[in-house]
Amino acid sequence: MEPTDQIIVALDCDNRAAADAIVERLGDECRFYKVGLELLTAVGPDVIEHLVAQGKEVFLDLKLFEIPNSVAGAVRAAGALGVSMVTVHSMGGVGIMAAAVDAARDFPHLRVLALTVVTSMSDGDLADIGVGGSTQEQVRRLAQLAAKAGCHGVIASPQDAAAVRSALGADALIVTPGVALPGESPGEHARSGTPRAAITAGATHIVVGRSVTRAPDPAAALRLVRADLGS
Ligand code: C5P
Repeated sequence: MEPTDQIIVALDCDNRAAADAIVERLGDECRFYKVGLELLTAVGPDVIEHLVAQGKEVFLDLKLFEIPNSVAGAVRAAGALGVSMVTVHSMGGVGIMAAAVDAARDFPHLRVLALTVVTSMSDGDLADIGVGGSTQEQVRRLAQLAAKAGCHGVIASPQDAAAVRSALGADALIVTPGVALPGESPGEHARSGTPRAAITAGATHIVVGRSVTRAPDPAAALRLVRADLGS
């Protein structure tokens, strides 16, 4: 895969003008965008249809954790919008993941990705919610559960990507948020890494947000990400 196809830029904005401005500034340099709950809730699904109409791929980060019937309905609605990826929480168990995968069958382009442990969580955070063991053990366990449910891949931090790859084999998609550019502060990402480290560890895609979208020159920042991947 070309570096350009591996980079997903997160459009974490609260208004349409800001999202459109980023897409316009990145132009042909970005082919894949993540739309999350903030933008979807603030501006509605038109922004997704507009991206798809421009030939962009869209990762709709719905982070579904609901009863299977509701999960299936949301996945069908995402598929009808033309998105390429949608997320479901693996902590909801096999039932909701399998419902998502089943609902996605009508949309051959749509991939269901399972969230494992969000990258901001540490071992201590897991203990606080009554989950024993390390984040890496929990990520591996949830990744295997996602594979059992038929998910096409998982979301995993750069530091968890290698364990997930060895647990899932060669074909699974592994999408890693929580990446920071070399030399950049990791911010709130407890298990961050560089784009290159994530791909080397087995990720197929990386999600990069503020490092690009809040940069004075987003296109230049995106080129830095691509250069890191190509180096
Ligand atoms: O931090 P950044 O702006 O690059 O975040 C981009 C995306 O990565 C966010 O939309 C968020 O969903 C995801 N992310 C995550 N865990 C974090 C931080 C960000 O999954 N700790």
